[in-house]
Amino acid sequence: MIICKAKDYKDLSRKAANIISAQVIMKPNCVLGLATGSSPVGTYEQLIERYKKGDLDFSCITSVNLDEYKGLAPDNDQSYRYFMNTNLFNHVNIDKTRTFVPNGLEPDSGKACREYDEIIEKAGGIDLQLLGLGHNGHIGFNEPSDAFTNGTNCVNLTESTIEANKRFFESEADVPRQAYTMGIRSIMMSKKILVVVSGEDKADILKKVVCGAITPKVPASVLQLHPDVTIVADDAARSLL
Ligand code: F6R
Repeated sequence: MIICKAKDYKDLSRKAANIISAQVIMKPNCVLGLATGSSPVGTYEQLIERYKKGDLDFSCITSVNLDEYKGLAPDNDQSYRYFMNTNLFNHVNIDKTRTFVPNGLEPDSGKACREYDEIIEKAGGIDLQLLGLGHNGHIGFNEPSDAFTNGTNCVNLTESTIEANKRFFESEADVPRQAYTMGIRSIMMSKKILVVVSGEDKADILKKVVCGAITPKVPASVLQLHPDVTIVADDAARSLL
């Protein structure tokens, strides 16, 4: 596990974008696993800037996103598909037919999860998976539990996640209670993993993830077992390490 030190959010975003850019340049037809949330927004801005300068080409990239709220349509401005379109895909030359997000509109959870696992498998697995870190240690929407998840699964969001995500919705009642998420096994099968962590409010959980016991109660702690993980964290997030 490599901890890459960043001064602040801007520095973190630049460093994370450097790592993703290197991946795209070295393997132009790679499969990128992508995340939503606040943490990667600056990284996506940096990637867009590099694309506009002519330094990056996304035309042969395939992407698979970590998760999607169950019940939200792709054009709902709170859906993760909408987030990805507005924060990255609409601004670079990626072929949108090769960008995948779990199907939030599929009411049959078993079917939605099976189909998403097939998409990941057909793509040949993930070359580089970008992750943010939840305050309770979740990655994707894999919440603390008694066992690590395998493939894509439908989760009931915890109170802490609903609380953290309500800032994006009109009210807490509007936050969907379920989501489809890539499983821990699928994340761990990625060749490389890049985690972006910013802010003092993540310091405590980052310490548990890096130095604590490997336990499904802190899902991201499993990353200690992956052979190629880079965590880019700013000074505030690293303050307890
Ligand atoms: C997003 C995702 C989540 C977030 C995590 C951190 O696709 O799967 O695990 O990465 O909740 O969110 P932020 O970055 O908003 O603190």
